[in-house]
Amino acid sequence: MTSQSIENKFKLPKRYQGSTQTVWNEYTQLFFEHQPLSLAHGFYDDPVPKHITDILAATAQNTDYTLHHETRDLGHPRLIHALSALYSKLIGRQIDPFNEILVTAGAYEGLYAAIHSHIEEGDECIVIEPSFDSYAPVVKMCGGVVRYIPLRLTAPSSSNIISSRDYVLDDAELEGVFNSKTKMIVINQPNNPSGKIFDREELTKIANLCKKFNVLCVTDEVYEWLVYDDNEHIRMCTLPGMWERTITISSVGKSLAITGWKTGWVYAPPNLISRVQVIHQLCVRNVCTPLQEALAIVLENELKRLDSADSYFNTLRLELQAKRDFMVNLLREVGMKPAVPQGGYFILADWSNLENKADLNSESDPQKDYRFTKWMVKNSGLMAIPATAFCHGNKTEMENFIRICFVKSEKNLQKASDILRKWVSQ
Ligand SMILES: Cc1ncc(COP(=O)(O)O)c(C=O)c1O
Repeated sequence: MTSQSIENKFKLPKRYQGSTQTVWNEYTQLFFEHQPLSLAHGFYDDPVPKHITDILAATAQNTDYTLHHETRDLGHPRLIHALSALYSKLIGRQIDPFNEILVTAGAYEGLYAAIHSHIEEGDECIVIEPSFDSYAPVVKMCGGVVRYIPLRLTAPSSSNIISSRDYVLDDAELEGVFNSKTKMIVINQPNNPSGKIFDREELTKIANLCKKFNVLCVTDEVYEWLVYDDNEHIRMCTLPGMWERTITISSVGKSLAITGWKTGWVYAPPNLISRVQVIHQLCVRNVCTPLQEALAIVLENELKRLDSADSYFNTLRLELQAKRDFMVNLLREVGMKPAVPQGGYFILADWSNLENKADLNSESDPQKDYRFTKWMVKNSGLMAIPATAFCHGNKTEMENFIRICFVKSEKNLQKASDILRKWVSQ
C-alpha cells in the first residue's frame, strides 16, 4: 500500500471540506511569529475577581464525591435550577429546568447542536452578515444551504460619527431571503463583530417573517449582559408568538469574562430542546461537573443582587463601557472611524484614512483588510482581525473595516494607545 493511497482513502469527509482554514488558524500563527499586542482575541486580560475564583476553588476542594463525577447529562441540577430562576425572571415566563434547558460545552456546542438537530439536506438557513464564523460552516456541514443577508451601513460616508445602530437590514432584502425552503434564521445580538443590537421594530420584522414562513429562530445571545448606554437587549423569545419557534443560546464566557469556563446553555420549548439534546448526548453528553456547580453558585449569588447596582453583571458592563469609550476616542484621534458598538466586546473601525500609513503592496491577500492587518502585525506590533473574515457573502462592504477587541486591561489599552500614536505620527 502506498502513502498516496492512504491519503486518498483517509480524506477529510466532504461535509467538512472548506472549513479547514480559518482566520484564527492564520492569525494565531502570525501572533506566535511576531508577538504583537493582540486586540484580536476576544478575552479580558485583567485578573478574574476573587468572588468568582474563590467559588471555583471552594468547589474544587469540596470533598463531596458527587461533584467530581459525571452529573446529569442534560445539565447539573443545581445549575439548571439557577438558570431557570434567572431566565424565568428575564423573559417573564416560567422555564421548566428539566425540559426546557440544556447545559452545553459553551455556546459553541449549543449552536452546533441546535443547527445539527434541525437542518436537513437542502434546508435553507438565513445568516446575517457580518457574523460569528461558526454558523455558516455548521449549516453547510448538515447539507443545508446558507442564505446570507448583509447588515448595511446607512450612515453617510462623510459622517464622522457612526454607531453599530447604523447597521441595518434592508426590508426588501430581508423579505427576499425567506421562502418555503427556509427552515432557520440565526441571529446574534449584541453582535460579534459589530456590536449591533436590534431594536423592537427590527426584531418584530424578523419575527413576523419567521411566523409567515414557519421558520425557527436560533438566537445567539452570549453578550446579553454587555449592553451599553441606554440600549436595551430584547430577547427574541419574548416577542408575541416567538417562544414556540425560538432556540436561545448563551454562555458564561463573555458575560462574566471567564471564557475558559466554556459552559453554556440552550433554552427553548420542550419539543425543540429534546431534539437539541439528541446531538448533545451523542457528542459531549456531559459538561464538567465542578464547573457547573461553581457556575450555579455564582449565578445564585448574582440572582440575589440582580437589580442592585453592585450586581457583577452591572459592574462589569460599566467597566467595559468605559474601555469602549477609551478605545473609540483613541481610534478617532489616530484617524480611524469607529462604529460605536451598542454592546459586546468589539468595535468595527474604518481604517481607510490610514491607508497611506501602511504598505499594502507588501502583502498578497486579495482582501485589503487582510493586507492592512498583516502589515500592522508585522510593522506596528498591534493585531486586529480583518472584518471580511466575518463575511462569506458580500465582502466589499467590509473591506475598509477591522475588528478591535476593547476588553483589555488598562495597561494594554495604554500600550495600544502608545503603539497607535507612534505609528500615525511617523
Ligand atoms: C457571537 C458568539 N457566539 C458564540 C461564541 C462562543 O461562545 P463560547 O465560548 O461560550 O463557546 C462566541 C465566542 O467568541 C461569540 O462571539
